[in-house]
Order: sequence, then structure tokens, then C-alpha cells
Amino acid sequence: MEQVTRRAVSAEETRQASRRWWDDAADAYQAEHGDFLGAARFVWGPEGLDEADAGLLGDVRGARVLEVGCGAAQAARWLADQGARPVGVDLSAGQLRHAQTLAGRTGIVVPLVQADATALPFADGSFDLAVSAYGAVPFAADQVALHTEVARVLRPGGRWAFSVSHPLRWALPDSPDEDGLVVRHSYFDRTPYVEQDESGRATYVEHHRTLGDRVRELTGSGFVLVDLVEPEWPAWNDQVWGGWSPRRGRLVPGTAIFVCRRP
Ligand SMILES: C[S@@+](CC[C@H](N)C(=O)[O-])C[C@H]1O[C@@H](n2cnc3c(N)ncnc32)[C@H](O)[C@@H]1O
Repeated sequence: MEQVTRRAVSAEETRQASRRWWDDAADAYQAEHGDFLGAARFVWGPEGLDEADAGLLGDVRGARVLEVGCGAAQAARWLADQGARPVGVDLSAGQLRHAQTLAGRTGIVVPLVQADATALPFADGSFDLAVSAYGAVPFAADQVALHTEVARVLRPGGRWAFSVSHPLRWALPDSPDEDGLVVRHSYFDRTPYVEQDESGRATYVEHHRTLGDRVRELTGSGFVLVDLVEPEWPAWNDQVWGGWSPRRGRLVPGTAIFVCRRP
């Protein structure tokens, strides 16, 4: 029986929980969300904002791009289609198996690496661009280590653009309905969200940061914040994804996209 709690959790326990959880959940996750995510589509979050429309990355032709926490690498495949040279990195072999399956189906093959985003197996300055759509960031205990590692593998002038749940959502229940619009938890409480089994072993972990925390962590990791995008819920989108829904999306932001530059 899974138990939901808030408690301190180390980087190693977080990593182990995330790897197990995403390995176990990969088939169900891709079955549930695969149609929305597409095979070669770069969508920033449940609002359905496509990079093709948002243009947050600029011209990616020829760019060496790292997709961090790539899952089935749908975004990396879209980037390859635009003429970029992407590499996908993810902690979970289960998720990367889906990336291989989609590569076979689409014919768009992207190099894939299984690794932790806080210890990237790439040389300094290997990439022009790093991106992540709800990838590793909230699943890492030490997010300064993650941003610092991304900064290391980017060349000077390179960009890091990533989306996460909007920090405001931390204060609201994870429900797509009316009860998901009532503040039940302190926005300021950074104690991690933990699901654990009967033995107390963490099975799923998310780490919260306030907006201010994120700005400080990014600038403290050597980045300049270029933009913070809060996509609005579009009229065409009637899908419910966990706690994200048209009802809530029309009232409060669900996603925050941070666009940064390494000076
Ligand atoms: C919500 S999925 C996002 C993937 C993809 N962009 C999508 O929308 O399906 C989160 C991904 O982050 C990966 N992940 C979690 N922690 C990670 C870490 N520390 N390093 C690398 N990847 C990680 C998970 O394995 C999972 O594939």
C-alpha cells in the first residue's frame, strides 16, 4: 500500500526511486500520453504549447542539442526533423526503450544515453542548446548540481530551456476539478513530495522550488534568465492530464518554462 508523505529525501534515494518508478511506469505513461506527445513533436506541457509555435529556441538548424530527461525523445525527434543534431539522455531504460521503438516507427534515429542529469557523460562545451519538457528537473534533489552540469556541457552563449510544473501548483491539490483550485498546502514548504511503500522506501519523489528559488538556482549556476513563459490554456485543448485540465488551466498557470543563457 503506497503512502503519500512529505519528508526529507536524499539525492541517492530520489535517484533510485525515479529510476524504478519511470521503468515501471513507462509502458502505462506512453500508452496514456503517447497520442498527445506524438512521435516527433516538441510540446512544452499539458497546455499543448508546441515549440513550433512558441519559437523559444530560435533557429535550431545544425545545433547540437541535448534533451535532458528525454523520455521517449519525442522532442529530440522533432528537433532532428528541424535540422538539429540532438542527443537524448534519460535515467530510465524503460523510457528509452520507447524512444527506440519510436525511432523504428518514424525512421528518425536520435542517439540515446542512459544517465543521471546531475552527472552527464559529455565533455565540457559539447552542446549549443539543452532542453527539457518536464524532464529531470523536478525529479532531482540537487537542482543546482543539475543546472551546473547542464551549464558545463553547454558552450559559452548556449541556451538551457526547460519546463516544469508551475511552482504555484505545489500549493494546490493535484486534481483537475474544483477541489484542485483551493489552496491546501503552503507554497513555501519545500519539503519533498514522497510516495513510499510499506517499508518506508521512496517509490516516487518530486522536489519543489518557489519561483524565487528557481531564479536564484539558475543564476547561482551561472545562467542568465532570458524569459519565463507561463502558457495559457488554449480553447482547443480539452484534454485532462492528471491535475491539468481546461477548468484549472483557464484560471491558474500549470507550466513554467525557463529560458536561460550561459554567458
Ligand atoms: C514527465 S517525463 C518527461 C519526458 C518527456 N519530455 C515527456 O514529456 O514525456 C520525466 C522524465 O525524466 C526522467 N528523469 C527523472 N529523473 C531523472 C534524472 N535524474 N536524470 C535524467 N532523467 C531523469 C524520467 O525517467 C522521465 O523519462
